[in-house]
Amino acid sequence: TIYRASTTAPVNIAVVKYWGKRDAQLNLPTNSSLSVTLSQSDLRTHTTASCSASYPEGDSLLLNGEPSDVTGHRTQSCFRELRARRAALEAADPSLPKLSTLPLRLVSENNFPTAAGLASSAAGFAAFVRAIANLYALPDSPAQLSLIARQGSGSACRSLFGGYVAWRMGSRPDGSDSLADQVAEASHWPDMRALILVVSAAKKGVASTSGMQRTVATSGLFQRRIDDVVPRHMDAMEEAIRDRDFAAFAEVTMRDSNSFHATCLDTYPPIFYLNDVSRAAIGAVEAVNEAAGRTVAAYTFDAGPNAVVYYLQQDEEMVVGTFSALLGDVTGWKDGVQSYKSPVVLVERLSEVIKTGVARVIMTGVGEGPVKTDEH
Ligand code: DP6
Repeated sequence: TIYRASTTAPVNIAVVKYWGKRDAQLNLPTNSSLSVTLSQSDLRTHTTASCSASYPEGDSLLLNGEPSDVTGHRTQSCFRELRARRAALEAADPSLPKLSTLPLRLVSENNFPTAAGLASSAAGFAAFVRAIANLYALPDSPAQLSLIARQGSGSACRSLFGGYVAWRMGSRPDGSDSLADQVAEASHWPDMRALILVVSAAKKGVASTSGMQRTVATSGLFQRRIDDVVPRHMDAMEEAIRDRDFAAFAEVTMRDSNSFHATCLDTYPPIFYLNDVSRAAIGAVEAVNEAAGRTVAAYTFDAGPNAVVYYLQQDEEMVVGTFSALLGDVTGWKDGVQSYKSPVVLVERLSEVIKTGVARVIMTGVGEGPVKTDEH
């Protein structure tokens, strides 16, 4: 017998960034963070979990068709925690099949190229945990499952929910209160959109796990970020989302990205994630906001040069029009967008940098959490 279950899980992009661990073993953060879950029609991981006594290879994971290592301590923590929960169910109800002792096989696929340089670990570990929880018929809530996904990759805990999601850092040493919590459903503020500029030839920079540990160990600015900056940003961001106040949302988003990248620069030796293309994208956002006479767009950057620009549906023409004029006919750019008339007087150099530096554009928006699907 082969038992199977499948799920999808979304990507999320933080507007208040997670950067720093207080416990690397349990993957506990130095600060809370908050993200927007992006629509799965554009970006998602699809994972099927199965288990069978007939699997000869033990636990395994196939990622976009390639065998992937499962012996790392993060993957092992997820397997262990999920099996322990299933074993507890089996102990309570002896009529249940003994799945907890069978080898697991995970088959996982992204609907976007891994080479796009988009953080896929968040969707990946969220789908991994959700798929096995479905297979095991675990009664655990998404918040409880987020405790497990967190151990796979910190940002993954936020991908168990749709909409607007906080990861509460918690204070307990065992990490039992460091979990995700939905601040608002996608339907609360459904017109949130994201334009992602995927920067070409982005060489592999410093990985987030080692980068953040270097920041914690060496940056003086970092202490101020976690003591003062992030707590203020978390409060202001939750308020902005509650009130659907885009100007406030945008300011906190941009300030928090800037603060995070400042601590990267303050790391010794320094870490540079932003490049000329990123800076040109910042320039374009500032230009469109100035031309609009109000805040219509907000940039944010993770541990790499790709720009994510948040805006509201009603301002799409202005925001997307500006970027499409700057971009010209970059691959993957939606048809029809070109005809928008941008109010921004385009700076030649800005356009040149963006045009040559952006490989791909993704237009998406706020979306739902993991969804059960058919097996593949
Ligand atoms: C800059 O979640 O990839 O994207 O917990 O070590 O796997 P690990 O780190 P990861 O870090 C994400 C960092 C970030 C900010 C964010 O998503 O909040």
